[in-house]
Amino acid sequence: MADLIVTIDGPAGSGKSTVARLLARKLGASFLDTGAMYRAITFAAMQAGVDLSDERTLLHVVQKHKFQFSVRGGQMRVVIDDVDVTGQIRSPEVTAKARYIAAAPKVREKLVQMQREFAAGRRKIVTEGRDQGTVAFADANVKFYLTAEAPERARRRQAELRAKGCNEGLEQTQKAIEERDRSDRSRTVGPLKPAEDAIVVDTTKLSIDKVVETLLELVREKC
Ligand code: DC
Repeated sequence: MADLIVTIDGPAGSGKSTVARLLARKLGASFLDTGAMYRAITFAAMQAGVDLSDERTLLHVVQKHKFQFSVRGGQMRVVIDDVDVTGQIRSPEVTAKARYIAAAPKVREKLVQMQREFAAGRRKIVTEGRDQGTVAFADANVKFYLTAEAPERARRRQAELRAKGCNEGLEQTQKAIEERDRSDRSRTVGPLKPAEDAIVVDTTKLSIDKVVETLLELVREKC
């Protein structure tokens, strides 16, 4: 297992992906975006046209295809059966359907195992998701839980979508975010919640740089 494991969990739009990537760079650590793994399985299952609520079929999808996750230029690169799908897994359709994969216990088990294997091959990692501090790396050196108020998270998500040329009303974006929150928090396996020993940071009024600086100081203090 890595010498330094920092986990960052939190809801969509809390800033965890950007913060995790920048923090990893400052710490000279590898960055793991576990949401990309759930998105990759979702994409493969959608391509195969299978029933997303059937866990056995989903497991078959996981076993049948070759998934490769690597980091290039600080970004998670996702390759399925030698085809780069890094951009495609970020579509609104995949975002909406990922909750089926996230609620499948056996698929989660497999992904947690892959996340631990990723950590085993590295000296330092910063990993982000929903269950990193609670399930995947319960013994992590430092655990963070980022939150932000829903309207601010919707605003950030909308800006992200706009940058990709996708226009969605703010109200619609906030509704989708709140729907994802509900499904993330209510599933029985790996639900979204702060680990008991996590440091909770509300990013609503903080810039990305400020959040990274705060987390970096806390990591240095603790390690
Ligand atoms: O962080 P994200 O939006 O890329 O996550 C995509 C989906 O995967 C989202 O529905 C939550 C789920 N997820 C999860 O259940 N556990 C994780 N560790 C990471 C993501």
